[in-house]
Parts: sequence; structure tokens; C-alpha cells
Amino acid sequence: MSALKLLNDRRSVPSRQLGDPGPDPAELQALLQAAARAPDHGKLVPWRFLLIRGEARRRLGELLARTALANNPDAPPAAIEKDRERFNFAPLIVTVIAHIDEANSKVPAQEQLLSAGCVAYNLLLGAQQLGYGAQWLTGWAAYDPTILAALGVGAGERVVGFIHIGTAREPAPERLRPDAAALVREWQG
Ligand SMILES: Cc1cc2nc3c(=O)[nH]c(=O)nc-3n(C[C@H](O)[C@H](O)[C@H](O)COP(=O)(O)O)c2cc1C
Repeated sequence: MSALKLLNDRRSVPSRQLGDPGPDPAELQALLQAAARAPDHGKLVPWRFLLIRGEARRRLGELLARTALANNPDAPPAAIEKDRERFNFAPLIVTVIAHIDEANSKVPAQEQLLSAGCVAYNLLLGAQQLGYGAQWLTGWAAYDPTILAALGVGAGERVVGFIHIGTAREPAPERLRPDAAALVREWQG
């Protein structure tokens, strides 16, 4: 498949439509290695991966449910249930964690974060190329101090996204895409 076709075919598969199987160990290794080829100003490697799979998904869901209730004791039970189930659909979640060197005088924090974003996007593309569905999710959990501490996300680190990867149980929905031509102007000096 040409790279352009892969880009033009790319779409998210909602995590709730993902199921088994996920990538096997060789595919996962290849996927992570390919994702790590993201552009990286200063070769800082300002990101890392945290895998969540198997029983750990359920444990994270339980933590989400407890934390959501602690954060908002009046939350409707359906919302708490949704949080409990969030990580239970895709067999594999690759968390992309950026660790930003704010003090770097040559590479601004924004560029380090963007590099981590490219890693996450590479995972989406790579997963699709391997025949899997994927979705990039953050949600409140990516910003909640209790969840971040439980995931071992340190000071100076950020969760760029939870990349849910698995087999699509139904055809992925398409959405209206931006018309690139309408977004273009040409600078002429
Ligand atoms: C940084 C980032 C975080 C996102 N977080 C969420 C999220 O928490 N919930 C959600 O429904 N979509 C989220 N999305 C959007 C989906 O991943 C997806 O891009 C969107 O549904 C559009 O589908 P498409 O990828 O096929 O264009 C996020 C996207 C990005 C780039």
C-alpha cells in the first residue's frame, strides 16, 4: 500500500468497537519500533511507552471509577460505569507519555510535545497498516493527578494519549474530512 493511500484511508475505530485479537508480540515490537521513528528535534527522545493490557485494563477501569466518584460524588451511576469500562474494549492500550525538558534552550517544550504527538500518530497509522483498528483517546484520565500517579507519570511528564488498538468488530465510521484546498493560502512576500 502506498503511504498516501494509507493516509487517505486512515480513520479511527471507536475504542468500543475494538476487540480481540490485538497485535502479537512481534507485531507490537515492530509497531513500537516504527512509531519511535518520529521526527525529534535535538534527538531528545522526549517520550516513552506504557502498555496497558490483560487484567491491568480492568484494574485501571476500577481506579477510574473510584477516582471519578471521589472527584464528583454526585456523578450519575451510568457515568461511573462508563469510566469503569473505558479500557476494557481494545486488547492493547499503548500510552504515549511525553517527558518534556522545559529547560532545554534549543528545543522548546512545544517541539518536544509535538514529537510525542507524532509518535502517537505513527501508532495509529502503523496499527492500521497491520490490519488493526485504533483510536487516540485522552479523556479526563489523561489529566487527573490520581490516575497519573498510579500510572507512574512523573513530574515533567504528560500523557499525550492512550492509543487503543485491536480488531475492528464493525466497519469504522467515516466522517466529513476537511477540504485542504480551502485551507491553503500562498504567501508571496
Ligand atoms: C490528542 C487527542 C486526544 C483525543 N482524545 C479524544 C477523547 O478523549 N475522546 C474522543 O472521543 N476523541 C478523542 N480524540 C479524537 C479521536 O481520536 C479521533 O481522531 C476523532 O474521533 C476523529 O476520527 P478520525 O481519527 O477518524 O478523524 C482525540 C484526538 C487527539 C488528537
